[in-house]
Amino acid sequence: MKFDLKAPVQISTFRGLAPYLEQELAALGFPIIAKTHTSVETEATLTQTFELNLRLRTALNILFLLKQFRCKNPAQLSCIVATLPWENIIPAGGYFTIVNRVETPSIDNSMFASLKVKDAIVDRIMAKTGARPDSGSERGRTVLNFFWNKDDAWLYVNTSGEKLSDRNYRKNPHSAPLRENLASGIIMETGYDGSQPLVCPMCGSGTLPIEAALLALKRPPAFLRMNFGFMHLSGFSLPEYETRRQVLLKEARKKIAAPIIASDIDPNAVRAAQKNAMTAGVDHLIEFKTCDFAQTPVPPGNGIVVLNPEYGERLGEQKELEGTYKRIGDFFKQSCPGYTGYVFTGNLELAKKVGLHPKSKTPFWNAKIECRLFSYELYSGSRDVAEK
Ligand SMILES: C[S@@+](CC[C@H](N)C(=O)[O-])C[C@H]1O[C@@H](n2cnc3c(N)ncnc32)[C@H](O)[C@@H]1O
Repeated sequence: MKFDLKAPVQISTFRGLAPYLEQELAALGFPIIAKTHTSVETEATLTQTFELNLRLRTALNILFLLKQFRCKNPAQLSCIVATLPWENIIPAGGYFTIVNRVETPSIDNSMFASLKVKDAIVDRIMAKTGARPDSGSERGRTVLNFFWNKDDAWLYVNTSGEKLSDRNYRKNPHSAPLRENLASGIIMETGYDGSQPLVCPMCGSGTLPIEAALLALKRPPAFLRMNFGFMHLSGFSLPEYETRRQVLLKEARKKIAAPIIASDIDPNAVRAAQKNAMTAGVDHLIEFKTCDFAQTPVPPGNGIVVLNPEYGERLGEQKELEGTYKRIGDFFKQSCPGYTGYVFTGNLELAKKVGLHPKSKTPFWNAKIECRLFSYELYSGSRDVAEK
Protein backbone atom coordinates (compact mmCIF):
# COMPACT_ATOMS: atom_id res chain seq x y z
CA MET A 1 0.00 0.00 0.00
CA LYS A 2 1.09 3.55 -0.55
CA PHE A 3 1.65 5.05 2.89
CA ASP A 4 2.08 8.62 1.60
CA LEU A 5 -1.25 9.01 -0.25
CA LYS A 6 -3.97 11.08 1.41
CA ALA A 7 -7.48 9.70 1.81
CA PRO A 8 -10.55 10.46 3.94
CA VAL A 9 -10.08 9.14 7.48
CA GLN A 10 -13.06 8.41 9.69
CA ILE A 11 -12.34 8.47 13.43
CA SER A 12 -14.92 6.93 15.72
CA THR A 13 -15.51 7.65 19.38
CA PHE A 14 -18.13 7.28 22.11
CA ARG A 15 -21.18 9.48 22.02
CA GLY A 16 -20.37 12.70 23.88
CA LEU A 17 -16.65 12.61 23.04
CA ALA A 18 -16.80 13.91 19.43
CA PRO A 19 -16.26 17.61 20.42
CA TYR A 20 -13.07 16.66 22.29
CA LEU A 21 -11.88 14.51 19.39
CA GLU A 22 -12.48 17.42 17.05
CA GLN A 23 -10.48 19.68 19.40
CA GLU A 24 -7.61 17.19 19.45
CA LEU A 25 -7.53 16.85 15.66
CA ALA A 26 -7.59 20.61 15.15
CA ALA A 27 -4.75 21.03 17.67
CA LEU A 28 -2.69 18.52 15.65
CA GLY A 29 -3.38 20.54 12.48
CA PHE A 30 -5.74 18.08 10.75
CA PRO A 31 -8.76 19.43 8.82
CA ILE A 32 -12.28 18.63 10.04
CA ILE A 33 -14.19 17.47 6.97
CA ALA A 34 -17.36 16.14 8.61
CA LYS A 35 -18.64 15.10 12.01
CA THR A 36 -21.43 13.13 13.65
CA HIS A 37 -22.30 12.36 17.31
CA THR A 38 -19.84 9.45 17.26
CA SER A 39 -17.22 10.29 14.65
CA VAL A 40 -15.08 12.98 13.09
CA GLU A 41 -13.78 12.78 9.53
CA THR A 42 -10.43 14.19 8.48
CA GLU A 43 -7.93 13.55 5.70
CA ALA A 44 -4.55 11.91 6.25
CA THR A 45 -1.93 9.56 4.84
CA LEU A 46 -1.41 6.10 6.31
CA THR A 47 1.90 7.34 7.71
CA GLN A 48 0.04 10.15 9.49
CA THR A 49 -2.30 7.61 11.05
CA PHE A 50 0.71 6.33 13.10
CA GLU A 51 0.69 9.64 14.93
CA LEU A 52 -3.10 9.83 15.15
CA ASN A 53 -3.24 6.35 16.70
CA LEU A 54 -0.54 7.20 19.21
CA ARG A 55 -1.78 10.66 20.16
CA LEU A 56 -5.58 10.88 20.03
CA ARG A 57 -6.86 10.50 23.59
CA THR A 58 -10.58 10.31 22.88
CA ALA A 59 -10.60 8.19 19.68
CA LEU A 60 -11.74 4.56 19.39
CA ASN A 61 -10.91 3.48 15.81
CA ILE A 62 -9.10 5.29 13.00
CA LEU A 63 -10.41 4.14 9.63
CA PHE A 64 -8.59 4.88 6.37
CA LEU A 65 -10.92 4.88 3.35
CA LEU A 66 -10.12 2.33 0.64
CA LYS A 67 -13.27 2.75 -1.45
CA GLN A 68 -16.67 4.39 -1.31
CA PHE A 69 -19.18 3.03 -3.81
CA ARG A 70 -22.81 2.59 -4.78
CA CYS A 71 -24.00 -0.98 -4.26
CA LYS A 72 -27.48 -2.40 -4.83
CA ASN A 73 -27.05 -6.13 -4.16
CA PRO A 74 -24.60 -8.82 -2.98
CA ALA A 75 -23.53 -9.74 -6.55
CA GLN A 76 -22.53 -6.15 -7.22
CA LEU A 77 -20.74 -6.08 -3.86
CA SER A 78 -18.56 -9.08 -4.83
CA CYS A 79 -17.68 -7.54 -8.22
CA ILE A 80 -16.69 -4.16 -6.78
CA VAL A 81 -14.68 -5.58 -3.85
CA ALA A 82 -12.77 -7.83 -6.29
CA THR A 83 -11.50 -4.74 -8.20
CA LEU A 84 -9.36 -3.58 -5.25
CA PRO A 85 -5.68 -4.65 -5.25
CA TRP A 86 -5.94 -6.80 -2.09
CA GLU A 87 -2.63 -8.53 -2.95
CA ASN A 88 -1.00 -5.12 -2.26
CA ILE A 89 -3.00 -4.45 0.92
CA ILE A 90 -2.93 -7.69 2.95
CA PRO A 91 0.64 -8.99 3.43
CA ALA A 92 1.59 -12.43 2.04
CA GLY A 93 0.66 -15.14 4.56
CA GLY A 94 -1.66 -12.61 6.19
CA TYR A 95 -4.82 -12.89 8.24
CA PHE A 96 -7.74 -10.49 8.13
CA THR A 97 -11.03 -9.85 9.83
CA ILE A 98 -14.06 -7.85 8.69
CA VAL A 99 -16.07 -5.65 11.03
CA ASN A 100 -19.36 -4.63 9.46
CA ARG A 101 -22.41 -2.45 9.93
CA VAL A 102 -25.08 -3.21 7.35
CA GLU A 103 -28.43 -1.49 7.04
CA THR A 104 -29.70 -2.22 3.57
CA PRO A 105 -32.87 -3.86 2.31
CA SER A 106 -30.77 -5.88 -0.19
CA ILE A 107 -29.90 -8.45 2.49
CA ASP A 108 -31.27 -9.38 5.90
CA ASN A 109 -28.12 -10.95 7.34
CA SER A 110 -25.06 -8.76 7.86
CA MET A 111 -22.85 -11.87 8.19
CA PHE A 112 -23.72 -12.68 4.60
CA ALA A 113 -22.34 -9.27 3.51
CA SER A 114 -19.08 -9.99 5.37
CA LEU A 115 -18.91 -13.40 3.71
CA LYS A 116 -19.28 -11.81 0.28
CA VAL A 117 -16.52 -9.28 1.02
CA LYS A 118 -14.27 -11.98 2.48
CA ASP A 119 -14.73 -14.36 -0.48
CA ALA A 120 -14.04 -11.60 -3.00
CA ILE A 121 -10.80 -10.70 -1.18
CA VAL A 122 -9.62 -14.31 -0.81
CA ASP A 123 -10.44 -15.17 -4.45
CA ARG A 124 -8.57 -12.11 -5.70
CA ILE A 125 -5.45 -12.84 -3.62
CA MET A 126 -5.54 -16.53 -4.67
CA ALA A 127 -5.80 -15.53 -8.34
CA LYS A 128 -2.94 -13.01 -8.11
CA THR A 129 -0.50 -14.82 -5.80
CA GLY A 130 -1.58 -18.47 -5.66
CA ALA A 131 -1.74 -18.28 -1.84
CA ARG A 132 -4.80 -18.04 0.34
CA PRO A 133 -4.92 -15.56 3.27
CA ASP A 134 -6.56 -16.69 6.51
CA SER A 135 -9.54 -14.89 7.96
CA GLY A 136 -11.53 -15.00 11.19
CA SER A 137 -12.73 -12.81 14.03
CA GLU A 138 -9.40 -11.87 15.71
CA ARG A 139 -8.65 -8.15 15.58
CA GLY A 140 -4.91 -8.50 16.14
CA ARG A 141 -3.89 -8.35 12.47
CA THR A 142 -5.41 -6.75 9.33
CA VAL A 143 -8.83 -5.30 10.19
CA LEU A 144 -11.27 -4.08 7.53
CA ASN A 145 -14.44 -2.13 8.29
CA PHE A 146 -17.34 -2.43 5.88
CA PHE A 147 -20.40 -0.18 6.09
CA TRP A 148 -23.43 -0.59 3.85
CA ASN A 149 -26.32 1.83 4.20
CA LYS A 150 -29.13 1.50 1.64
CA ASP A 151 -27.25 1.79 -1.69
CA ASP A 152 -24.07 3.37 -0.31
CA ALA A 153 -21.07 1.35 0.82
CA TRP A 154 -17.67 2.13 2.34
CA LEU A 155 -14.63 -0.10 2.79
CA TYR A 156 -11.97 1.02 5.25
CA VAL A 157 -8.71 -0.29 6.61
CA ASN A 158 -8.92 -0.07 10.40
CA THR A 159 -5.49 1.40 11.24
CA SER A 160 -6.10 0.91 14.99
CA GLY A 161 -7.04 -2.80 14.96
CA GLU A 162 -8.01 -3.18 18.61
CA LYS A 163 -9.90 -0.19 20.04
CA LEU A 164 -7.69 2.72 21.09
CA SER A 165 -9.31 2.80 24.53
CA ASP A 166 -7.15 -0.28 25.23
CA ARG A 167 -3.99 1.58 26.18
CA ASN A 168 -2.29 -1.50 27.69
CA TYR A 169 -1.58 -0.02 31.12
CA ARG A 170 -4.71 -1.24 32.93
CA LYS A 171 -3.55 -4.73 33.85
CA ASN A 172 -5.45 -4.49 37.15
CA PRO A 173 -9.06 -3.49 36.59
CA HIS A 174 -11.20 -2.73 39.62
CA SER A 175 -14.99 -2.43 39.88
CA ALA A 176 -16.75 -0.42 37.13
CA PRO A 177 -13.64 1.16 35.57
CA LEU A 178 -14.14 3.99 33.09
CA ARG A 179 -12.96 3.41 29.53
CA GLU A 180 -9.65 5.19 29.15
CA ASN A 181 -10.78 7.48 26.32
CA LEU A 182 -13.88 8.52 28.28
CA ALA A 183 -11.71 9.30 31.32
CA SER A 184 -9.49 11.39 29.06
CA GLY A 185 -12.49 13.31 27.69
CA ILE A 186 -13.63 14.01 31.26
CA ILE A 187 -10.18 15.36 32.15
CA MET A 188 -10.16 17.49 28.98
CA GLU A 189 -13.54 18.96 29.95
CA THR A 190 -12.12 20.04 33.34
CA GLY A 191 -9.47 22.09 31.50
CA TYR A 192 -6.71 20.35 33.47
CA ASP A 193 -3.23 20.89 32.02
CA GLY A 194 -0.87 19.94 34.85
CA SER A 195 -0.35 23.49 36.11
CA GLN A 196 -2.90 23.10 38.94
CA PRO A 197 -3.37 20.44 41.65
CA LEU A 198 -5.68 17.56 40.73
CA VAL A 199 -7.47 15.50 43.37
CA CYS A 200 -9.17 12.21 42.44
CA PRO A 201 -10.92 10.64 45.42
CA MET A 202 -12.75 7.35 44.60
CA CYS A 203 -10.01 6.66 42.05
CA GLY A 204 -10.87 2.94 41.60
CA SER A 205 -8.33 1.46 39.18
CA GLY A 206 -6.83 4.92 38.66
CA THR A 207 -8.07 5.69 35.14
CA LEU A 208 -8.79 9.39 35.80
CA PRO A 209 -5.48 10.26 37.53
CA ILE A 210 -3.46 8.17 35.03
CA GLU A 211 -5.12 9.77 31.99
CA ALA A 212 -4.62 13.17 33.64
CA ALA A 213 -0.91 12.51 34.16
CA LEU A 214 -0.48 11.33 30.54
CA LEU A 215 -2.28 14.46 29.33
CA ALA A 216 -0.26 16.82 31.54
CA LEU A 217 2.97 15.21 30.30
CA LYS A 218 1.70 15.47 26.70
CA ARG A 219 2.71 11.82 26.40
CA PRO A 220 1.04 9.85 23.57
CA PRO A 221 -1.54 7.78 25.48
CA ALA A 222 -1.10 4.69 23.27
CA PHE A 223 2.71 4.63 23.60
CA LEU A 224 2.61 1.25 25.42
CA ARG A 225 0.74 -0.51 22.64
CA MET A 226 2.87 -2.82 20.59
CA ASN A 227 0.21 -3.61 18.02
CA PHE A 228 -1.90 -1.48 15.69
CA GLY A 229 -3.86 -2.40 12.57
CA PHE A 230 -1.56 -0.36 10.30
CA MET A 231 1.32 -2.71 11.21
CA HIS A 232 -0.47 -5.46 9.26
CA LEU A 233 -0.61 -3.71 5.90
CA SER A 234 1.75 -4.42 2.99
CA GLY A 235 4.45 -1.77 2.84
CA PHE A 236 4.44 -0.96 6.58
CA SER A 237 7.88 0.11 7.76
CA LEU A 238 8.59 -0.65 11.43
CA PRO A 239 11.73 1.56 11.55
CA GLU A 240 9.76 4.53 10.17
CA TYR A 241 7.03 4.01 12.79
CA GLU A 242 9.54 3.54 15.62
CA THR A 243 11.37 6.75 14.65
CA ARG A 244 8.11 8.72 14.77
CA ARG A 245 7.14 7.13 18.10
CA GLN A 246 10.51 8.02 19.63
CA VAL A 247 10.21 11.65 18.45
CA LEU A 248 6.78 11.92 20.08
CA LEU A 249 8.06 10.40 23.31
CA LYS A 250 11.04 12.80 23.39
CA GLU A 251 8.68 15.77 22.92
CA ALA A 252 6.73 14.75 26.05
CA ARG A 253 7.34 16.55 29.33
CA LYS A 254 9.21 14.79 32.12
CA LYS A 255 7.56 16.57 35.05
CA ILE A 256 4.42 18.42 35.94
CA ALA A 257 4.13 21.52 38.09
CA ALA A 258 1.49 20.49 40.64
CA PRO A 259 0.59 17.30 42.52
CA ILE A 260 -1.98 14.69 41.55
CA ILE A 261 -3.65 13.00 44.53
CA ALA A 262 -5.60 9.75 44.11
CA SER A 263 -7.47 7.95 46.88
CA ASP A 264 -10.01 5.21 47.44
CA ILE A 265 -11.53 3.60 50.51
CA ASP A 266 -10.76 0.13 49.15
CA PRO A 267 -7.09 -0.87 49.60
CA ASN A 268 -7.40 -3.30 46.65
CA ALA A 269 -8.45 -0.42 44.42
CA VAL A 270 -5.50 1.69 45.53
CA ARG A 271 -3.11 -1.23 44.94
CA ALA A 272 -4.57 -1.77 41.45
CA ALA A 273 -4.36 1.96 40.66
CA GLN A 274 -0.73 2.09 41.84
CA LYS A 275 0.23 -0.90 39.67
CA ASN A 276 -1.57 0.55 36.65
CA ALA A 277 0.14 3.92 37.17
CA MET A 278 3.49 2.11 37.37
CA THR A 279 2.79 0.32 34.07
CA ALA A 280 1.84 3.67 32.51
CA GLY A 281 5.09 5.15 33.87
CA VAL A 282 3.32 7.90 35.84
CA ASP A 283 3.34 6.47 39.40
CA HIS A 284 6.00 9.02 40.47
CA LEU A 285 3.54 11.85 39.64
CA ILE A 286 0.60 10.55 41.70
CA GLU A 287 0.32 10.46 45.50
CA PHE A 288 -1.90 7.54 46.52
CA LYS A 289 -3.83 7.20 49.76
CA THR A 290 -6.30 4.65 51.14
CA CYS A 291 -9.05 6.60 52.90
CA ASP A 292 -12.66 7.73 52.84
CA PHE A 293 -12.97 10.38 50.12
CA ALA A 294 -13.67 13.07 52.74
CA GLN A 295 -10.20 12.46 54.27
CA THR A 296 -8.35 12.94 50.95
CA PRO A 297 -5.63 15.59 51.35
CA VAL A 298 -6.43 18.65 49.24
CA PRO A 299 -3.38 20.81 48.40
CA PRO A 300 -3.89 24.58 48.56
CA GLY A 301 -4.50 26.44 45.30
CA ASN A 302 -7.12 26.69 42.60
CA GLY A 303 -7.19 23.02 41.79
CA ILE A 304 -9.56 20.48 40.32
CA VAL A 305 -11.29 17.73 42.28
CA VAL A 306 -13.04 15.02 40.27
CA LEU A 307 -15.05 12.04 41.53
CA ASN A 308 -16.73 9.14 39.77
CA PRO A 309 -18.93 7.66 42.52
CA GLU A 310 -20.97 4.51 41.97
CA TYR A 311 -24.46 5.33 40.75
CA GLY A 312 -26.29 2.16 41.70
CA GLU A 313 -28.55 0.19 39.40
CA ARG A 314 -31.10 -1.04 41.94
CA LEU A 315 -33.38 1.12 44.06
CA GLY A 316 -31.93 -0.09 47.37
CA GLU A 317 -28.41 0.75 46.22
CA GLN A 318 -29.54 4.20 45.18
CA LYS A 319 -31.02 4.89 48.62
CA GLU A 320 -27.71 3.90 50.22
CA LEU A 321 -25.79 6.14 47.84
CA GLU A 322 -27.87 9.23 48.63
CA GLY A 323 -25.81 9.78 51.79
CA THR A 324 -22.55 9.46 49.84
CA TYR A 325 -23.60 12.11 47.31
CA LYS A 326 -24.67 14.45 50.12
CA ARG A 327 -21.28 13.96 51.79
CA ILE A 328 -19.55 14.79 48.47
CA GLY A 329 -21.29 18.21 48.59
CA ASP A 330 -20.11 18.67 52.21
CA PHE A 331 -16.55 17.65 51.26
CA PHE A 332 -16.54 20.16 48.40
CA LYS A 333 -17.76 22.97 50.65
CA GLN A 334 -15.57 22.22 53.65
CA SER A 335 -12.32 20.93 52.14
CA CYS A 336 -12.00 22.28 48.59
CA PRO A 337 -12.24 26.09 48.71
CA GLY A 338 -10.93 27.71 45.53
CA TYR A 339 -11.28 24.46 43.60
CA THR A 340 -13.60 23.46 40.79
CA GLY A 341 -15.39 20.26 41.80
CA TYR A 342 -16.59 17.65 39.28
CA VAL A 343 -18.90 14.68 39.74
CA PHE A 344 -19.30 12.14 36.92
CA THR A 345 -22.46 10.10 37.33
CA GLY A 346 -25.16 8.27 35.40
CA ASN A 347 -27.81 9.04 38.00
CA LEU A 348 -29.21 12.56 37.78
CA GLU A 349 -31.41 12.12 40.87
CA LEU A 350 -28.42 11.16 43.01
CA ALA A 351 -26.48 14.13 41.62
CA LYS A 352 -29.11 16.45 43.11
CA LYS A 353 -28.13 15.15 46.56
CA VAL A 354 -24.76 16.92 46.22
CA GLY A 355 -26.82 19.98 47.15
CA LEU A 356 -24.78 22.56 45.24
CA HIS A 357 -25.79 24.52 42.19
CA PRO A 358 -23.87 23.07 39.20
CA LYS A 359 -22.10 25.54 36.93
CA SER A 360 -22.36 23.06 34.02
CA LYS A 361 -23.72 19.60 33.20
CA THR A 362 -21.79 18.07 30.31
CA PRO A 363 -23.34 14.97 28.70
CA PHE A 364 -21.21 11.86 28.16
CA TRP A 365 -22.19 8.26 27.43
CA ASN A 366 -20.64 5.45 29.46
CA ALA A 367 -21.42 2.45 27.24
CA LYS A 368 -25.21 2.78 26.84
CA ILE A 369 -25.75 4.88 29.96
CA GLU A 370 -26.29 8.58 29.51
CA CYS A 371 -24.16 10.35 32.11
CA ARG A 372 -23.34 13.90 33.11
CA LEU A 373 -20.20 15.58 34.32
CA PHE A 374 -21.45 18.15 36.85
CA SER A 375 -19.12 21.02 37.69
CA TYR A 376 -19.30 23.17 40.82
CA GLU A 377 -17.42 26.34 41.55
CA LEU A 378 -16.21 26.12 45.13
CA TYR A 379 -15.50 29.66 46.17
CA SER A 380 -12.89 30.42 48.78
CA GLY A 381 -12.91 33.20 51.36
CA SER A 382 -16.02 35.21 52.01
CA ARG A 383 -17.98 34.04 48.93
CA ASP A 384 -20.31 31.23 49.87
CA VAL A 385 -20.84 28.21 47.71
CA ALA A 386 -24.09 28.84 45.87
CA GLU A 387 -26.59 26.34 47.26
CA LYS A 388 -29.82 25.22 45.65
C1 LIG B 1 -17.29 3.75 39.97
S1 LIG B 1 -15.89 3.32 40.89
C2 LIG B 1 -14.65 4.40 40.20
C3 LIG B 1 -14.04 3.79 38.98
C4 LIG B 1 -12.85 4.57 38.48
N1 LIG B 1 -13.22 5.82 37.86
C5 LIG B 1 -12.04 3.71 37.48
O1 LIG B 1 -11.93 4.08 36.31
O2 LIG B 1 -11.57 2.64 37.91
C6 LIG B 1 -16.18 4.07 42.44
C7 LIG B 1 -15.06 3.89 43.45
O3 LIG B 1 -15.42 4.61 44.64
C8 LIG B 1 -14.87 3.92 45.76
N2 LIG B 1 -15.62 4.38 46.97
C9 LIG B 1 -16.89 4.08 47.32
N3 LIG B 1 -17.18 4.69 48.49
C10 LIG B 1 -16.10 5.41 48.86
C11 LIG B 1 -15.81 6.26 49.95
N4 LIG B 1 -16.69 6.51 50.92
N5 LIG B 1 -14.59 6.86 49.99
C12 LIG B 1 -13.66 6.61 49.02
N6 LIG B 1 -13.88 5.80 47.99
C13 LIG B 1 -15.09 5.20 47.89
C14 LIG B 1 -15.06 2.46 45.40
O4 LIG B 1 -14.15 1.66 46.15
C15 LIG B 1 -14.79 2.46 43.89
O5 LIG B 1 -13.42 2.15 43.64
